[in-house]
Amino acid sequence: MAHKFNPNNKKKLDNEWRRENLPPVETLEKLGLKPGDVFADIGCGIGYFTIPAAQMIGNNCAYALDTLSEMLAEVELRSTAAGVKNIEIVKTAELDLLIPDESVSFGLMVNVIHEIVDKNQFLEEISRIIKPGGKLAVIDWEKGETEMGPPIDHRFGKEELTAMLKEIDFECQETMKFTENFYGLVFSKK
Ligand SMILES: C[S@@+](CC[C@H](N)C(=O)[O-])C[C@H]1O[C@@H](n2cnc3c(N)ncnc32)[C@H](O)[C@@H]1O
Repeated sequence: MAHKFNPNNKKKLDNEWRRENLPPVETLEKLGLKPGDVFADIGCGIGYFTIPAAQMIGNNCAYALDTLSEMLAEVELRSTAAGVKNIEIVKTAELDLLIPDESVSFGLMVNVIHEIVDKNQFLEEISRIIKPGGKLAVIDWEKGETEMGPPIDHRFGKEELTAMLKEIDFECQETMKFTENFYGLVFSKK
């Protein structure tokens, strides 16, 4: 059984440690998000990345996708406070992202894959929403000892993820690190 994030811990998603390890704007720039992208934050949590991404892409849509209403309520509050108007909030189902086929040019998934039981089907669903030639960027915990983070056996390694995505025609274009704690991968959909 995969371990699901407890919404009572939502403060863990925006604090000083996280801003040092994954500064939101610099992280999105490093992953290659560009003005004009249509963005989807898959498992967006409280919108830590969704809100700066929406500001970076201009007037296009930034989808905030999550299965938990508590998280999406926080995205609503934070985006209103920031005056950001191009976020579409969608309460998704476990294996259904509920947005149109090939509607996204840049998908982001940060610290989500280890929570998914049926990873193959979830990745297929992500493929459905991404345009041919579009990108999927993934950040997750390195599968090794780090100063913080979930138990190692709950983590999902970059090699395994790359192999699964290759099976469904995503080519890994870039591999990067964010401090010692996180890997970043950028895939392109054929
Ligand atoms: C650890 S949090 C990360 C949140 C955000 N990506 C961030 O980095 O700030 C994981 C999030 O994934 C969401 N999640 C888990 N399973 C999901 C699924 N099947 N579809 C969409 N979101 C999911 C959880 O509700 C939670 O908000």
